Amino acid sequence: MKKIIGLFMWALLLTGCKPNSPTQSMTWTEIAPGVWKTIAGIPDELDLFNAAGVKPYIKGLEKLGPAGFPLSLEKISAEIIDGETYLRFPLEKEEQIFGFGLNFKTIFQRGKILQLHVDHYGGSDNGRTHAPVPFYVSEKGYGVFINSSRYIKVFAGTAVRKDSPEASVPLDRNTDKEWSAQPYSDAVEILVPAPGAEIFVFAGPTPMDAVRRYVLYSGGGCLPPRWGLGFTQRVPLLYTSEQVEEEAKMFKERGFPLDFIGLEPGWQSKSYPCTFEWDKTRFPDPASFVKRMKEMGIRLNLWTNPYVSPESPIYTDILPLTATHTVWGGVVPDHSLPQARDIFINQLFKSQVSIGVSGYKLDENDGFDNWLWPDVAKFPSGNSAEQLRQTYGLFLQNSTTEMFRKNNTRTYGLTRASNGGGSSFPYVIYNDYYSHPDFITALINSGFCGVLWTPEVRSSESSEEWLRRIQTVCFSPMAMINAWADGTKPWSFPDVEKDVRYYSLLRMELIPYLYSEFAKYHFEGIPPFHGMNLEPGFNTKTAKELLSKSPGGNQYYEALTKEIKTQYMTGEYLLVAPLFNGQTSRNVILPEGNWYDFYTGKFAGNGEIITISPGLSRIPVFVKDGGIIPTMQQALHAPSAGQKCNIEIRYYGSRPASYKLYDDDGETFDYEKGIYSWREINVMKDNNGKLTGTISKAEENRPDNIGTVSWKFMSESR
Ligand code: GAL
Repeated sequence: MKKIIGLFMWALLLTGCKPNSPTQSMTWTEIAPGVWKTIAGIPDELDLFNAAGVKPYIKGLEKLGPAGFPLSLEKISAEIIDGETYLRFPLEKEEQIFGFGLNFKTIFQRGKILQLHVDHYGGSDNGRTHAPVPFYVSEKGYGVFINSSRYIKVFAGTAVRKDSPEASVPLDRNTDKEWSAQPYSDAVEILVPAPGAEIFVFAGPTPMDAVRRYVLYSGGGCLPPRWGLGFTQRVPLLYTSEQVEEEAKMFKERGFPLDFIGLEPGWQSKSYPCTFEWDKTRFPDPASFVKRMKEMGIRLNLWTNPYVSPESPIYTDILPLTATHTVWGGVVPDHSLPQARDIFINQLFKSQVSIGVSGYKLDENDGFDNWLWPDVAKFPSGNSAEQLRQTYGLFLQNSTTEMFRKNNTRTYGLTRASNGGGSSFPYVIYNDYYSHPDFITALINSGFCGVLWTPEVRSSESSEEWLRRIQTVCFSPMAMINAWADGTKPWSFPDVEKDVRYYSLLRMELIPYLYSEFAKYHFEGIPPFHGMNLEPGFNTKTAKELLSKSPGGNQYYEALTKEIKTQYMTGEYLLVAPLFNGQTSRNVILPEGNWYDFYTGKFAGNGEIITISPGLSRIPVFVKDGGIIPTMQQALHAPSAGQKCNIEIRYYGSRPASYKLYDDDGETFDYEKGIYSWREINVMKDNNGKLTGTISKAEENRPDNIGTVSWKFMSESR
């Protein structure tokens, strides 16, 4: 039964507002377990969730169970003034918040003023980014989402109302040391430039639970095909089909794994704007080329931007469905119109997907302002230029995903724009900004807002930088070298070639673990890559307890209260702490509980800061006590549907533990019809205190790709 909390009377009493007052009465309805919704004013028809075609994964939410409304109702308010919606949510003293999209430099969002605007990231966290998701999560264990396709303004604990019960009293700056330029603000205030908005609140109880509810409500996280988790190389702009085949052969000869190759603009006869047709000189026979590549075990991903060249076969049909303004001389389809989407998708299907192409790189759907359609452009649907800007990436991901779903072949591609509700799309965000440390911060932030991000590798100044970047990308959603401009190969830096090979093969070994972690993203909403602030036992509450146990000079406490921007979790068990060019040692904060070295299984620490100097050939990785890491034998390609795969289960620590290993055909959408299986792995101690492991049999008539199973107890000597 839906629960409804009427605040109307409350609001009347509180504000004494008259029927015509801008103050909105807010009625919160629990629309799924722990997910609450209200509507303020009259929202736009086009919002983020409907652009994304969100279908909430209710079963997953039911498993998470019910939860009460997590905020004080009387502290939330909405007003509509001059056609704009003013929203206010409470913030407690010292409460930290995370999210507001794919930021690259900051984790803590309290104290920020942002305008959420889809754009190419320009170097500062001001709200303009590839996925400016209007969702924030509090360390207190709840999340708030504004379902609007507008450039939303956020004042995240920056402003003070004179009627706030805790408004700071004025202090004299001349004499009072307590004076602060930023006095305590008790609210997140949000301005939606439209006369209404849908608002969602996601309950906890933990911050991770709030993120999970948001992701599950968005349809559950994406489940890539198994091959999507293998290695991928993008080739230079004007490569021909022969050169691409040659490249694939070289990978094999040199013993480097490769599952898919990305073709850049030169596969099209014209680009910027695009024809969406093969170039007949570089690709004289696309169908047999795609087939030959597939026979070598390599799939193809095609770059495109959405702007239509007058020479494209779809130009005449799509022209009436395009904006008033052009981009690079190409017309801009109104993808909020189903007819425009159909024309576009038919072309991709006819020319590429029907002959076996596996995915796309959806480029240039984010920004820059000087290139894109301006906010004064008009679209035939009547949706504004601003709304199309905020939703273009969602529409393109949605329609291409649907095309692959109809074809019953999974895809895993790249996009430069996404937004709220995009979690279920099998797309990873990338960009041209090339800061290795900031790429890690983005990876952490992607986990707060239900999107995926790849810290792609392009080129490097030195073999050291090359290897450091490769190490990181192998612990990310897409292990990709994007050599469109420089033609770099994994072996381009001979002195580290061996190490690059080691990490690309390690990536392959980890596929069973990564695939299960993605299955958890899909079925349970747990982001496979996330920051330490979503880890249990790693928040400022813990920090406060620690401080009371050991006050003064407690470095671990101090570390927990700062932004942790350069270490993150890969799945449930692996803590990854990359090193950057020029760095030979670094600190790693190990949360409470025993942690073990991934490579040796040795004990590394417990609730402390350790300093490590691992040498260039290692990226530091630590495993949580009880870590069960299912791995597969080294391979140059991910296992194909039905292919038996021998696994080695690595176990770290000494705590009895269990893990669910996910299995399905890895290639089709049949898992959406329930054709998958989970196998339970258990590790316990026998009567002599010796660790033993078991794995359950595959369920009958369910996918079973597992061949032999072996065990490695990594920390046994301890
Ligand atoms: C950029 C994109 C690059 C590459 C290039 C090709 O917009 O970010 O990864 O694809 O276009 O022109």
